[in-house]
Amino acid sequence: MTTLGNGIKKVGLAPNLKSGFYGQDIISVRQFTRENLEYIFAVADEMRAVVKRVGSTDLLKGHVLACVFYEPSTRTSSSFIAAMSRLGGSVIPINEVRFSSVTKGESLPDTIRTLESYADVIVLRHPEVGASQVAAEYARKPIINAGDGVGEHPTQALLDLYTIRTELGNLDGLHVAMVGDLRYGRTVHSLARLLCLYDVRMTFVAPELLRLPLDVLNDIRSCGRPVAESYSVQDAISDVDVLYVTRVQRERFADQAQYEAVKDFYVITPELMAEAKERMIVMHPLPRVNEISYSLDNDPRAAYFRQMENGMYIRMALLAAVLGKA
Ligand code: NCD
Repeated sequence: MTTLGNGIKKVGLAPNLKSGFYGQDIISVRQFTRENLEYIFAVADEMRAVVKRVGSTDLLKGHVLACVFYEPSTRTSSSFIAAMSRLGGSVIPINEVRFSSVTKGESLPDTIRTLESYADVIVLRHPEVGASQVAAEYARKPIINAGDGVGEHPTQALLDLYTIRTELGNLDGLHVAMVGDLRYGRTVHSLARLLCLYDVRMTFVAPELLRLPLDVLNDIRSCGRPVAESYSVQDAISDVDVLYVTRVQRERFADQAQYEAVKDFYVITPELMAEAKERMIVMHPLPRVNEISYSLDNDPRAAYFRQMENGMYIRMALLAAVLGKA
């Protein structure tokens, strides 16, 4: 146990959040329980109401967030920055690591040690699996994982789950199909694991090359939820409550010919959606490339832009919780 200068105690590494969020790292969805998810969702509901009513609050006035992105990002970085700004705090944005000392050869631990001497919480995106965990081992301040390579993306999974709950009213009893790059898609790895906390049936739709990694599949099987794998989105579409579509992660392929072979394997079109239930939603963590036709955007079941907006409310809730102000 480390006692921090500001009185926050960080207990072990990536601990389970039974004791609440205050001062804790957010590294993996494995940390969450249904109880603390409900808490974050309730706070996110309040954040939404505040933003709609008055735009911002001064809950985190005087607090500083360091936002460090070693990989490209539009939504995750800007929604964290917007979240901190709407809570009255300020941000050190390091989106272009090429302008930081990282290009001079500075290590991740030294970068983290530097930023935590200026900031109260650090959001980190990094191309290597486990990078946030490593950062958390060095940092005395909370580290929030904003994506570690093909590993996890826990805050995206929180906003995904929050979206399903907001759109469909409940989580138990649903059939969720995840489609596309299940191999490299970290949002899928986190969401699938998180859904294990609920009575949810999951179908994983991917070409052979992009099937869900065995360790994730085993995690889901071991929690006893019904799981199916399929190549065909047509076969799954009529029965699902949530269709979670993902981009083929071009940057993860060593062989670009392999990427070309699978890049447009699935495209969700209005014709395909004619087979889907009337009450269901289509989600996507975004960015989309070709996998959802633009002509679907006006379908009320297309929830991906609402999902993206929810990211800001969830991140406001998380920042407030981790800094002990929720
Ligand atoms: C995702 C990511 O970075 O993993 N984007 C996001 O955070 N919303 C998905 C992707 O890049 O395809």
